[in-house]
Amino acid sequence: MTSWHPASWQSRTAQQQPKYPDPAALEAVIAQLSRLPPIVVSWEVEALKARLASAQRGDAFLLQGGDCAETFQDCESDQIARKLKILLQMSLVLLHGLKKPIIRLGRMAGQYAKPRSADLETRDGVSLPSYRGDLVNRPEFTAEARIPDPQLLLRGYERAALTLNFVRALIDGGFADLHHPEYWDLGFLKHSPLQDAYQRIADSIADSLDFLESVSGRAIHESVTADFYCSHEGLLLAYEQAQTRFIPRQQRWYNLSTHLPWIGMRTAQLDGAHVEYMRGISNPVAVKIGGGMDDAWAQGLVTTLNPQNEQGRLAFIHRFGAKDIEKHLPRLIRAVRATGQSVLWICDPMHGNTETATSGLKTRRFENILKEIELAFAIHQEMGSHLGGVHIELTGDDVTECTGGARGLTDADLQRAYRSTVDPRLNCEQSLELAMLIADRARGGRR
Ligand code: PEP
Ligand code: CO
Repeated sequence: MTSWHPASWQSRTAQQQPKYPDPAALEAVIAQLSRLPPIVVSWEVEALKARLASAQRGDAFLLQGGDCAETFQDCESDQIARKLKILLQMSLVLLHGLKKPIIRLGRMAGQYAKPRSADLETRDGVSLPSYRGDLVNRPEFTAEARIPDPQLLLRGYERAALTLNFVRALIDGGFADLHHPEYWDLGFLKHSPLQDAYQRIADSIADSLDFLESVSGRAIHESVTADFYCSHEGLLLAYEQAQTRFIPRQQRWYNLSTHLPWIGMRTAQLDGAHVEYMRGISNPVAVKIGGGMDDAWAQGLVTTLNPQNEQGRLAFIHRFGAKDIEKHLPRLIRAVRATGQSVLWICDPMHGNTETATSGLKTRRFENILKEIELAFAIHQEMGSHLGGVHIELTGDDVTECTGGARGLTDADLQRAYRSTVDPRLNCEQSLELAMLIADRARGGRR
């Protein structure tokens, strides 16, 4: 490895970085962030890596989910608890269907920075810098709001810590205890066509636990209280760098702002700053891959980001779209194989299936999301590979942003409760239904 340090990315081209008008103010904030305590700790990061290694072997399954972009305003207790609940419910359903431990990875507690396709946004002839997420600037369309503000890095760090603190307290308090799946009830289920099916799964798990405990004569704790990890797109490298620490006990560098940072599709250039930064940290890292990625690029990512072929270190999150997955996934599985190394394969069925409804709103169809996951399972199986997880954009709220699902939401419903400022998310009911259908297909119910 040529010499790496937390700032070595600065000698490379960094895509998607804001232009701060006052570099000294940015430096002062970075210095402050570098002294603040970490949000996660190295042994949790290593524990996640070990669990991802088991998903890579096919012995566990990863559920990664959350908002496309968290906002500072949504950092409040009900929102966080609802998001945690839907993720726990989905994991319960997946556990029951897949008969494998489920690794829960929130797309939360730090998912505040967004890549944009254009640097400028133009409205009525006025052009302003694009909104890049709450970590960078503000969404209102005024010159003032769109100026990148380094103070927002501190506000984001604080909200990430507040969010994870609450999640940890809920989990420690038994919120995720499989002995009490009734705690995980969501109000919406009372009127949902899915309620009976979900209740049967929860009861069946409670019965299995009772049975095991009466046979073994002791309470089952191991892997019963769920652990929960967090992840975000590691986009803003100054922020990530400030939270990068050398841990003497491990003799390795870690990004302690999150358990797993990922590189987005737009910033995954082999000679770019993001790959340079990620190659030196010991966290598990992921890269989003799409149809535009050729074999040599994917192979370069494997050898650069995981030269020792450490298991659980590198995940590829594929997002081709239901239409294109058959064209690209097999070739990329072969390309990775040709390196003699392996990765954890995760299917993101959201970002390749985005379309614009006639109203102009961005949406995704439930049937395409499900189809891409089904195809991913089938392709991995045919090729003797494992689909190790799914990556879903969802919310615990009852929004109408994606169409389809058990309630048959249509384009006309989108207006009713469309709240996302970025990508359309599955609502709580659609998320649970998706988990049920994945579990169903995994039990052999393939069409
Ligand atoms: C995202 O995950 O919200 C995103 C921007 O994805 P991608 O990098 O895959 O386009
Ligand atoms: Co998104």
